Amino acid sequence: MMQRVASHVLRNEWVPVFTSLNAWKCSNCRAALVNGARGYSVFPPSTDCKEKAMLDQMLRVDHAGEYGANRIYAGQMAVLGRTQSAPLIQSMWDQEKYHLQKFDEILAENRIRPTLLLPLWNVTGFVLGASSALLGKEGAMACTVAVEESISEHYNSQIRALMEADPDRYTELLQLIKEFRDDELEHHDTGLEQDAESVPGYRLMKSLIQAGCRAAIYASKRI
Ligand SMILES: [Fe+2]
Ligand SMILES: [Fe+2]
Repeated sequence: MMQRVASHVLRNEWVPVFTSLNAWKCSNCRAALVNGARGYSVFPPSTDCKEKAMLDQMLRVDHAGEYGANRIYAGQMAVLGRTQSAPLIQSMWDQEKYHLQKFDEILAENRIRPTLLLPLWNVTGFVLGASSALLGKEGAMACTVAVEESISEHYNSQIRALMEADPDRYTELLQLIKEFRDDELEHHDTGLEQDAESVPGYRLMKSLIQAGCRAAIYASKRI
């Protein structure tokens, strides 16, 4: 099993890193990505350096989080892809693919560079997903509960910050983040319904994964 997981990473799993980086590099094609006559999709272009720095940091870390979530579900599917849990995990992964696609588009449109840590999140996300799934369906679900709780709390803090800054200016961005936050909460609740808490060492596992999430958020904001 471990051999299959390792070869999966080595043969196939670098592609998404380059896909995301290419989305950033292709920001010269901005015109093609801009929606409608108003000239932007989710928020008006910044004219203020401080605002631009805040939004760049915010969207870079969101992109990194969705990228990491995709890698976690990929790791879980590499292990549990032929079990009864596969359709459920796949359906959550499909939503993460959509989240990542939206942030890929937003980064390209606004010429925001993704975090330089994507290659690290590629491997660590996959390894976390696969190793939790090696504990069985309950292990995978415990990982999902821990990660999705961290991501939804992170989105909630962004929603508060944008509401305080200028809710009218960020209407579409707020709508998008709220929609994704709700999806993450649904994943979290699915994990609990699927007996996440019954895996041995659940509390410790959850604390460790959430400490890792906090460190990943901290690093992705800055690098
Ligand atoms: Fe997501
Ligand atoms: Fe999620």
